[in-house]
Amino acid sequence: MSNSVRIIEVGPRDGLQNEQMPVSVEARIGFVKALFAAGLHTIEVGSFVSPKAIPKMQGSDQVFCGVRDLPGEFHVLVPNEKGYEGARAVGAKVIAVFASASEGFSRANINCSVAESIERFRPVIERARADGIKVRGYVSCVLGCPYDGDIAPNSVVDISKRLWQLGCYEVSLGDTIGVGTPTKARQLLRAVAGEVPMQNLAMHFHDTYGQALANLYAGLEEGSRIIDSAAGGLGGCPYAPGATGNVGTEDVVYMLEGMGIATGVDMEKLLAATNTISALIGRPPVSRVAAALNAKARAR
Ligand code: HMG
Ligand code: MG
Repeated sequence: MSNSVRIIEVGPRDGLQNEQMPVSVEARIGFVKALFAAGLHTIEVGSFVSPKAIPKMQGSDQVFCGVRDLPGEFHVLVPNEKGYEGARAVGAKVIAVFASASEGFSRANINCSVAESIERFRPVIERARADGIKVRGYVSCVLGCPYDGDIAPNSVVDISKRLWQLGCYEVSLGDTIGVGTPTKARQLLRAVAGEVPMQNLAMHFHDTYGQALANLYAGLEEGSRIIDSAAGGLGGCPYAPGATGNVGTEDVVYMLEGMGIATGVDMEKLLAATNTISALIGRPPVSRVAAALNAKARAR
């Protein structure tokens, strides 16, 4: 396998958006800075969405402003033109729009049909491109939907193609509820790569059923080289009941380094960042590697 993989750290957004315990803006800034210092240089730091929909992401503008001068790439989620204006006002250079492969999740998450969401994103993407802002595109529920059940790979291919054609530089395939298994993940990547180049496809796998690393490995074998992960395995989505966090960044780093793929991430610093945020949200990290390293430290 080629030895270059890009990790997109999504803990400060996907991780914290669904936590019970509110985390202050200062602590979120500290978390992003600690992740950056650990070697994670592409970080999704917040979202410009309705505060009624996702109260925990309020203050994302301040979080972004608190870290924007670091020499990294800081992404924010944008659902519509209002969100776009907020993101542009603080100087975001990369935004992410988020569509769904399923109607049920689209309706629950962003209160519109999949087709309507594309029409909402069209002016956002056009304006971003005119303003020199890069746009990442998410597709949720690529391997199953909490409302609609099984998802036909063709729906994922169609929506990925639309986002790509509209001008997204990268499409991130979200197994939002973490139900996928390696063969399905592999087949899906192969199918989508027929329309969007593999080098522009990211794997965004939640770990609800403990399959995320296996799915990532299958995707790596297919040639995908971009991984979204969350420090400590934080997170979930309020509109995906029961779904747990993204694959833990520690787990991804451990696997990649073990395969001889350098990540540039300092595990000790990453673990410290994870432990600090875990203490603030009041629960231990679910990442297996973080748990193992913490147990080892306690035994010393
Ligand atoms: P709506 O109610 O249909 O929107 O929500 P609306 O345009 O009718 O506006 C309703 C109210 O929201 C108004 O305020 C607007 O001003 C306000 P009011 O007049 O009632 O006081 N509003 C906003 N406020 C701040 N920023 C905005 C914004 N837009 C409207 N951008 C909407 C539609 C999309 C806004 C809403 O449903 C929403 O914000 N949804 C966000 C859901 C979300 O963030 N989900 C989690 C992220 S997705 C995810 O986690 C999956 C992912 O990780 C990939 C994966 O795992 O698969 C990405
Ligand atoms: Mg997610």
